[in-house]
Amino acid sequence: MADSLLITGASQLLTLRGRGPRRGDSLSNLDLVKDGALLVHDGLIAAAGTRAEVEALAQARAAEKLDLGGRVVLPGFVDSHTHLIHAASRAEEYELKIVGASYEEIARKGGGILNSVKRLRVATSEALKKRAHAALKQFAAYGTTTLEAKSGYGLDVASELKILRLHKELAAEQPLEIVSTFLGAHVVPAEYRVKTRAAERYIQLIEQGLLPEIGESRLAEFCDVFCDRGAFSVVQSKRILQAGRQWGLAPRLHAEQLSRTGAARLAILLRAASCDHLEQVNKSDIQALGKSETVATLLPGCDFQLGLRHYAPARALIAAGAIVALATDYNPGTSPTLSMPMILSLACTQLRMTPAEAITAATINAAYALRREKSIGSLEVGKQADMGVFEVADYREIPYYFGVNHCWMTVKRGRVIHAAEQV
Ligand code: NIG
Ligand code: FE
Repeated sequence: MADSLLITGASQLLTLRGRGPRRGDSLSNLDLVKDGALLVHDGLIAAAGTRAEVEALAQARAAEKLDLGGRVVLPGFVDSHTHLIHAASRAEEYELKIVGASYEEIARKGGGILNSVKRLRVATSEALKKRAHAALKQFAAYGTTTLEAKSGYGLDVASELKILRLHKELAAEQPLEIVSTFLGAHVVPAEYRVKTRAAERYIQLIEQGLLPEIGESRLAEFCDVFCDRGAFSVVQSKRILQAGRQWGLAPRLHAEQLSRTGAARLAILLRAASCDHLEQVNKSDIQALGKSETVATLLPGCDFQLGLRHYAPARALIAAGAIVALATDYNPGTSPTLSMPMILSLACTQLRMTPAEAITAATINAAYALRREKSIGSLEVGKQADMGVFEVADYREIPYYFGVNHCWMTVKRGRVIHAAEQV
């Protein structure tokens, strides 16, 4: 049968199999199989183990064969936090930051997120889609097979819906899985800031003008809020996330990035899928995250790009038992990278996570953050055959060669979606 595929020649097969999200010591458990193989049927994993085991099972089927020539195989990366749709880079702000302006100063002068909003509102759907398609090809080229995508550069009804509809169209037009999040509460848009009770009025627009349409047309699965100084307060965030939940959107939060607001506590209280950033968490937040089911998603690309040297306390979070995940936060302001291998490098050298912990955080724990742990994040029987194949001798070389892309092949649901050029 042509829809079976026998994959052999994995010098190291990292299956990440096991129960539950990984906490503490279990973050280091990759379930590494030497000389590993996989049998794929109808896009799903039918067997994963040593070559001998899998070949024995494959005998009964007429499977197509793919030999990886001794390369390293792991589950496709799950990038659980991106701002996929935006109109342009903010390279001019990058330069301003290098010569001394802070992210928040630039935002107060109408730059930052509002700069991207201005550009997105005048961009056509076609132009945005073209840019996103190019980015998605790049994500695949770095070994990502699923990504979350947030709205949040529209901030009016037409533009937010434009972004969310694009998520749907893009998901149908190309192989990467896209998980859609509504981030209408990114900041209060400029046209509201000249009014009295600006935030209150904008929140009413979210509740009455946006959420009903998003909920009814199923344009998003999650609702996110940027809960921080200069954006939304804890009280406002709670109200928005509760309204989102009424329309079937599960909560997640941008939390404790620029200042400590109590957003992580709110995420735990609301049983949010994740709270992301966490640079400013305090000791008691760390303990609380250690006991909660809310995933602590760390985004070291932001601190690297902003040159802040204030990375999230990954070691303390892991020691406390938190479910730690990693993501790119691909966005034009604070983290314009779509490379999960680069995020692994930053996690290792800056967050002091080991390569094994970083890979777990970027695969199975990230799948939990998207509530997709039953279908992706590990190479186990019954899950999707989503994998990254790397041209390295040892998985630790993936973060070790920072800034270098060693992804040789990417497979989504059993189909090759990226293959490196042969030299
Ligand atoms: O995740 N913190 C808020 N949102 C983005 C930045 C967005 C921007 O600057 O355009 C983030 O870092
Ligand atoms: Fe973000």
